[in-house]
Amino acid sequence: MTLHIEGVHKAYGDRPVLRGVDLRIEPGEVTGLLGLNGAGKSTLVTIVAGLLPPDAGRVLVGGVDVGRHPHRARAHLGLAPQDLGIYPSVTVRDNLTLFGRLAGLRGARLRERIDKVADALELEKLFDRQGRALSGGEQRRLHTALAMLHEPRLLLLDEPTVGVDVATRSRLLQAVRDLAADGAAIGYSTHYLAELDTLRATVAILHEGTIVRRGTLAELVDTHGRAAVDLTFTERVPDGLDFGPDAVVRGATVRLPSSDPAKTAAEALGLLGAHGSAVRSVELVRPDLETVFLSITGHLPQEVAA
Ligand SMILES: Nc1ncnc2c1ncn2[C@@H]1O[C@H](COP(=O)(O)OP(=O)(O)OP(=O)(O)O)[C@@H](O)[C@H]1O
Ligand SMILES: [Mg+2]
Repeated sequence: MTLHIEGVHKAYGDRPVLRGVDLRIEPGEVTGLLGLNGAGKSTLVTIVAGLLPPDAGRVLVGGVDVGRHPHRARAHLGLAPQDLGIYPSVTVRDNLTLFGRLAGLRGARLRERIDKVADALELEKLFDRQGRALSGGEQRRLHTALAMLHEPRLLLLDEPTVGVDVATRSRLLQAVRDLAADGAAIGYSTHYLAELDTLRATVAILHEGTIVRRGTLAELVDTHGRAAVDLTFTERVPDGLDFGPDAVVRGATVRLPSSDPAKTAAEALGLLGAHGSAVRSVELVRPDLETVFLSITGHLPQEVAA
């Protein structure tokens, strides 16, 4: 089921957040939605789910206009918002049953779906635990399972892997891939770029109110990636050195984007003078999604992740 976002605008008060977002996600496609904190990812996801009206533009889910026919559109849609939404005072099993009923599942079909998502997200052992007695990562798994229960044709996951351990992350990513393999269209917001590789996702970068880059990982890296040099100091980056306007400092490392990293490395080392002995390593960074993101936003995604 194709998701079609056309010309979506949204302002909070007089502050515009979305300024004409166009985006399409095809059945079977996972699209990673990237953007700095405050870029508007959650706002967009909430609009797509029909929970917030856009100021202009429209969203079509399988051809159905979410604004005009919210109930019809929502039947095909699963949403796991950024904020956890589970019932703390009831058990995992009852959470699944309640949400399943809300999504219109009954009887054998409900039981079958509960078993399926519980297996995919490893919830069986937790069935009799209350929501509030789950760890943060377990709550995330339940929260995501609730969004997948009715086998939505469009699944929206807003930072589903925040604060989860390695095992939970890989469970979650596998469950998302399985759903996409069954033909669902998936919108997946994250600050962890490596996940997009695992998901074989296409990428949409939301910046200053519009989708500024859209494509496969390889396309974006080939077209917009820029190599860089990482200069890491033993303690911190010395004051008073001018590495140029493109330099980005992260901890004790200065990243210098460059189309000729060997030359840039030599120049940077020449610039250091007496500080030369404070350098711990010089690393050449090949173009990747992170360098694409950096060149557009001026920030590294992990740096700004909450
Ligand atoms: N209900 C609201 N009222 C006013 N401003 C809001 C509201 N919700 C979000 N904003 C503002 O809109 C901007 C976009 O917020 P949004 O939550 O969509 O960003 P995000 O890309 O999801 O960020 P993050 O990566 O931190 O989750 C932010 O500046 C935020 O402060
Ligand atoms: Mg958000």
